[in-house]
Amino acid sequence: MRRLVVPAAGSWQSGQETGVAAGVKEEAMEVKPTTDHTGAEVRGIDLARPVSDEAKAVLNRAFVAHGVLVIREQSLSPHQVLGAVELFGRVFMQHNTRFAIPECPQIHYISNNDRFPDGRRYIPGEGWHTDHSNDARPPKATVLHAVSLPDRGGDTQFANMAAAHAALSPSLQDRIAGLVAIHVYQSSHSARKLMALSDANKERVPNAVLHPLVRTHPENGRKSLYLNPIRIEGILGMDHKEALPLLDELLEHATAERFQYRHRWQPGDLVIWDNRCLLHKANGDYDMEQTRYLYRVMLEGDVPR
Ligand code: SIN
Repeated sequence: MRRLVVPAAGSWQSGQETGVAAGVKEEAMEVKPTTDHTGAEVRGIDLARPVSDEAKAVLNRAFVAHGVLVIREQSLSPHQVLGAVELFGRVFMQHNTRFAIPECPQIHYISNNDRFPDGRRYIPGEGWHTDHSNDARPPKATVLHAVSLPDRGGDTQFANMAAAHAALSPSLQDRIAGLVAIHVYQSSHSARKLMALSDANKERVPNAVLHPLVRTHPENGRKSLYLNPIRIEGILGMDHKEALPLLDELLEHATAERFQYRHRWQPGDLVIWDNRCLLHKANGDYDMEQTRYLYRVMLEGDVPR
């Protein structure tokens, strides 16, 4: 099992002023694409220290351009993760608060050590999805920071929904343009079951929201498929007999290997991805005697259009 060594708490405060300050070391920051369509590896920056406005702008541009940033060799406490992610936006509070970290509830955890009430192990994030699409303003991004990793396995896969949309036939693009999907907390068609919401959480989570099946990225203008087999209950005004095969066909196309970046975790990785144009999935393919534990936080987004 591979573990993160966290520095003493309090060495970086959330909301701390950015700007070129004494001790900022980012001249050597490097951004290197991981595939020709998705992902970039970032080295040479320490997110536990103040980050200049210039570096912040580079990171945000790289995030929009590549969809996934893999920022290597970080060693952050939950409060430091919060400070780091605020470089990219404002924290979005997750719907199911049972995974909140008590000392810093804006941060949740991903762990392979939780169980469903019937005793089965719960592997969060298995199956292709985009996060919290059942919200009227779904989170634009999700961030994971590795704390403890299995020796092998437990990769996170990403599929690029803009590339997938661009590769559809013009007739299928025309057929789906203007369609609206109904998103709920747990789709009745999904094989993957989520951990149930508490009564208090149910009160703040919408019953259902409508989002376009093809959305336009608010920052780069690219069109993406906006699919989510875990949350989509149907297509507005379309019979299930037509809607479900159409959604299956789109998902199969969109998750083909040619649209994927597969992230193999290394200790110290902080990964941020763009939920507006990607699907992702976890893999529970590793030795369950070993702990896989990551900090998780999401960032506010806007209404998909
Ligand atoms: C998630 O879906 O947020 C978790 C992904 C992972 O654990 O690899």
